[in-house]
Amino acid sequence: MAKKLPLERILHNQGFGARKFCRILIINEDVTVNGEICDDPSTEFELDNLSYTIKGEPWEYREKSYLMLHKPSNFECSHKTQHHPTIYSLLPHPLVVRDVQCIGRLDEDTTGLILISDDGQFIHRMSSPKHKVPKVYEVTCKHALSDEQIAHILRGVQLVDEDAPIAALACERISDFVIHMTLAEGKYHQVKRMIAAISNRVEGLKRIQIGDVKLPDDLAVGKWRWLSEAELASLNNTEKIKLLLAANIKY
Ligand code: URA
Repeated sequence: MAKKLPLERILHNQGFGARKFCRILIINEDVTVNGEICDDPSTEFELDNLSYTIKGEPWEYREKSYLMLHKPSNFECSHKTQHHPTIYSLLPHPLVVRDVQCIGRLDEDTTGLILISDDGQFIHRMSSPKHKVPKVYEVTCKHALSDEQIAHILRGVQLVDEDAPIAALACERISDFVIHMTLAEGKYHQVKRMIAAISNRVEGLKRIQIGDVKLPDDLAVGKWRWLSEAELASLNNTEKIKLLLAANIKY
């Protein structure tokens, strides 16, 4: 049988605040469920496909949150930031209350695709070095890239504090100054350090793909959206991730 819960608990679980606060919202007729005002906090609703509004804003019940954000420059991927606003300020407050976390941090000056969730197991799996999800970066360099520099990235570069050279899975030339670089790891400042190791310098860095989830053209900088079921399934599909890794061709 489909799971049911009282409305007050549903709103609390979804991050709208303390039970008492949620009860007041409901009694004040600020909440509609499936199109109708519900002013009784104890009314039970089935959780599957539950749509509701709070003060006119539409929501859907989600057991866990899985979203993507188009990170702008000058935002930090941390809850306690040092110099810039946090990326979490770009999300609706209830999601922050649910303690969503980003999966792998980007530097403050890096833009692009970030995955965010409150599913601890998903976060752990996606961030684990064992689960090598390929990530594609659009890298704009200060100096034009020679073919030898690209070949060097593909052969592997030795980074300080690393035991063995690290190679990009793929490195596609887009223009004299721009490459698309695919990495299996997520080491600290990895792209910047790899580009420095070939005597060049990163001038602009944008993550454009994780696994086979691409940063959508229509997701504006600073905006977020839920992951689709297909996107989530592809990230959870370990066999597909292995195939993606195997399919990466060195140019
Ligand atoms: N590599 C970097 O150097 N910076 C990032 O933000 C991500 C990957």
